[in-house]
Amino acid sequence: MMKRAIAVSLLVGSACLCSCADQPVYRDPEAPVERRVEDLLARMTLEEKVMQVTQWTYGKNMNVNNVEQEMKAVSPMIGSLLYRSTSAAFYNQVQRKAIEESRLGIPILCGFDVIHGYRTIFPIPLGQACAWDVEKTGESCRIAARESRLSGVHWTFSPMVDVARDARWGRVSEGYGEDPYLNGVMGVAAVRGYQGDDLSKSDAMAACLKHFVGYAYSEGGRDYHYTEISPQSLWETALPPFEMGVKAGAATVMSAFNDISGIPASANRYTMTEILRDRWGFDGFVVSDWNAVEQLKAQGVAADDAEACLKALTAGLDMDMVDDVYRRSLPGLIADGTLPEEVLDEAVRRILRLKFRMGLFEHPYVEELPDSVRYLRPEARAVARELAAESMVLLKNKEAVLPVRGEVKRIALLGPMADNRVDLMGSWWGQGVADDVVTILEGLRAEFAGKAEIVSCAGCGFDGDDRSQFARARALARQSDLVVLCMGEKRNWSGENASRASLALPAIQEEFIREMARTGRPTVVLLSSGRPVDVRGFESEVDALMAIWQPGTEGGNAVAQLLSGKVNPSGRLAITFPLCAEQQPVYYNRRQAARPRSGRYQNLPHDPMYPFGYGLSYTTFSYGTLRLERTTLHRGERLAAEIEVTNDGTCDGKETVLWYVSDPVASISRPMRELRHFEKQSIPAGESRVFRFEIDPERDLSFPDATGERHLENGTFVLEVNGRRVEFELI
Ligand code: GLC
Repeated sequence: MMKRAIAVSLLVGSACLCSCADQPVYRDPEAPVERRVEDLLARMTLEEKVMQVTQWTYGKNMNVNNVEQEMKAVSPMIGSLLYRSTSAAFYNQVQRKAIEESRLGIPILCGFDVIHGYRTIFPIPLGQACAWDVEKTGESCRIAARESRLSGVHWTFSPMVDVARDARWGRVSEGYGEDPYLNGVMGVAAVRGYQGDDLSKSDAMAACLKHFVGYAYSEGGRDYHYTEISPQSLWETALPPFEMGVKAGAATVMSAFNDISGIPASANRYTMTEILRDRWGFDGFVVSDWNAVEQLKAQGVAADDAEACLKALTAGLDMDMVDDVYRRSLPGLIADGTLPEEVLDEAVRRILRLKFRMGLFEHPYVEELPDSVRYLRPEARAVARELAAESMVLLKNKEAVLPVRGEVKRIALLGPMADNRVDLMGSWWGQGVADDVVTILEGLRAEFAGKAEIVSCAGCGFDGDDRSQFARARALARQSDLVVLCMGEKRNWSGENASRASLALPAIQEEFIREMARTGRPTVVLLSSGRPVDVRGFESEVDALMAIWQPGTEGGNAVAQLLSGKVNPSGRLAITFPLCAEQQPVYYNRRQAARPRSGRYQNLPHDPMYPFGYGLSYTTFSYGTLRLERTTLHRGERLAAEIEVTNDGTCDGKETVLWYVSDPVASISRPMRELRHFEKQSIPAGESRVFRFEIDPERDLSFPDATGERHLENGTFVLEVNGRRVEFELI
């Protein structure tokens, strides 16, 4: 093999171009990217190509010695590293090794799971979706990109835009909820936040749309499990957020663990090539999920690594994450003619293209700055605090027990989340550090300083059956004017491989809530979770309930500002809260049923606990008449709609108006309604604002069939806002 490689390198060497005497084209920053790609590719040996399509993990833990040892083990030809160290110095050493010790000096692309922040941790994506603040999600990703790049990370395995409708699935925390359009809009904001307008800038980070495609259909909410996705659902629900992300310029895509009607996503040519490239024009590269190539054997479509490699690469999977199957299998497959080298070349081309676009050949190293300059800057904390406050959803507020009234002079802050740092960060906490986190107790003490005394104890654990602290908690509750119970999930109860059969809190937490509520003091429950929670066990016994999700580094301050009324809650659910796991699937945009009022459970109410889009405020908003500029529409025209919303309460607030379209009669059965636009505005008390939506028939009224072909059919459509409906005709 080596002889062939040397011979090939000498041969191709003569075919390469030089922009001047000693400067090969690929090293010329002025040369067009495609010419640089071709010039470099032509110079590469088979071994160098194989290493480019390989990603290893690096820095398995934060033990400095290990990282040093692993650094020595890293081949200078490696194409990519799943890079876990925060040390810019180590990164520079690793990169310098690649550039100075390899023959062609190709920089390493370092990726990491920056899902909702790097060191400054923002709310989990599901929480961000409930904030409906597209701009702030984009800002959070811009900040994450800056902190990442200063740590040696060029590429994030984010945003996840899997449309999830089963809260038993732990990764529901990681996407933007149950709606395809909302996932798409938030995913685009994340892509643009990470990548900016120029990937070659030193604070730009390549995005990665994941998991392509259909991962969230995992049966029963189990992870990595069998998925049953109809072609119609694939095109109508699972694919749209990815198409929006690709059209927004996402640099990479990650293939998913699941299969699609028997063909694993990581060996699925239909999705990774025919759809992603041939139809959508994607020119980035596809990376596998962790070990997903090797797992093709477990999925029963490959007898050995070589077959897994062959199927994945020819399907369009360009880079192999961590299992090393490509590196071990490709030389043999090419040597024996099973796999044409051109197929490998195309994968290498796509990877090199990103490295050139990111300017890594010109600027491979990072400035070695202190953590105080790199991380947690005031602006970062401010965005984290604001986004966390906007993400929280007020679900119940009986007799306006919130915001905390002036006569409240002592607050009992109880529950396992009251003084908890680590679980406020949620899953996929990046390089978040628990000590950076403001606890709810710290937040309240700061916010209510001089106004109310905060007394606190946990009172109960997350689970188990220890009631030994109930009495102390009960005593604090009785001595206080308000009881705030901070309850919920540990961060590892959601996220990857964290499916839970029940959505209810552990019995000890439910019992504790009921016990504290029985003291007769006004009782508020703050629910920190990575998923919708079954609240039936306590909801009726408490006065207020707020979903705070896993709000991140500034979570405690955000909670405190909502409780004090400094910030008015504006969150709305991006995912339905079912009554219980058994009620699922229950999501808003279901298809029209044959007998909508029948076929219901005999032993469970039909409606969910809280529907998609639900959320309360401390003020009240009234909606005016839904107005259409006309009631007929032709193709190629647009139809303007507007509605006036008035804040007729006593405090300023933000309102998100959700615009739905439905297509009551079409050539196929369509969802009962589909979110097509939303807008969030601040409305001062006593004032009104007009919200507008301009209907574009092609964009908003057409639908894909099971082949992805879009159909726009004449007929009656319905526009719906906050229960107001108006019909119009496409003619
Ligand atoms: C995991 C996840 C994926 C993540 C990758 C790298 O298994 O499925 O979302 O980006 O591996 O950590």
